[in-house]
Amino acid sequence: MTQKRVTKAIFPVAGLGTRFLPATKSIPKEIMTLVDRPLIQYAIDEARAAGIKEFIFVTSRGKGALEDYFDNAPVLEQELRKKGKEDQLEALQDTNMESGAIAYVRQHKALGLGHAVWCAHRLIGDEPFAVILPDDVIAAEKPCLQQMVEAHAETGGCMVAAMKVPAEKASAYGVLDIKDDLGAMVSVKGMVEKPKVNEAPSDLAVIGRYILTPSVLRSLNQMKTGAGGEIQLTDAIAAEIQEGRDVFGYRFRGKRFDCGSKAGFLQATVAFGLARDELRDEFASYLHDIVAPKNAAE
Ligand code: G1P
Repeated sequence: MTQKRVTKAIFPVAGLGTRFLPATKSIPKEIMTLVDRPLIQYAIDEARAAGIKEFIFVTSRGKGALEDYFDNAPVLEQELRKKGKEDQLEALQDTNMESGAIAYVRQHKALGLGHAVWCAHRLIGDEPFAVILPDDVIAAEKPCLQQMVEAHAETGGCMVAAMKVPAEKASAYGVLDIKDDLGAMVSVKGMVEKPKVNEAPSDLAVIGRYILTPSVLRSLNQMKTGAGGEIQLTDAIAAEIQEGRDVFGYRFRGKRFDCGSKAGFLQATVAFGLARDELRDEFASYLHDIVAPKNAAE
């Protein structure tokens, strides 16, 4: 079965990022930097690798820095060119977006992730689309969304990235109720957003990459509230199953970092720092020096 190509992605970036205050008092959390690139750049690069051509940001008040980040910077470019700083110019190229490829929609009220995605419905039309949560940064040889787009071309339906989590962490996620375990994928018979401890239907959690059918937007249209009194994306995807449509969990190959938490952000900083040729030796030796005496003492 060959499916319609996925060319649009929604990036919900309206959250306040209160967990990172005071940093996020004046910068959007998506501009916070892993090594030398803001979180949003990792999300955009992953989307591009998956063939996405249209990028829809669902923003809120105070997110102007995101728009500036993807704008052209002719004065800066001219300056770097004059000084022959080719490397830095090249780094800047990654932030260039084709004219009209990026759209911004405001979520006027913080009514939940499902509502944020719904806010983009007029720009989606009648085709499958991706959703990327930039807080979830995934290091992978083949970018996660690309893996999913390839799998989705065979299956159709809705697909969510899935990862095994320890039982005590399940209540922080959307969790899958598994119908059939197909190995790289599972077919899903239900989904629960933030289940109570010990009530999770499995240990397979939803991670912030989705390929969705437009009927999910119609379901979100009903504005039903769920966990935490918010309009949940998980519930709208679960409603697809009730309607008899397919939903799959995709066990991606890669390592996910929860950059919505401080510990996860620090871990990602270490991992992405060590992955850089120009930093690895110095950084690794620093880490070794500060950690080794502690280990020895234990
Ligand atoms: C959101 C989704 C949740 C998913 C998680 C992945 O939750 O609602 O289903 O498991 O992202 O990061 P949030 O982290 O915004 O509370």
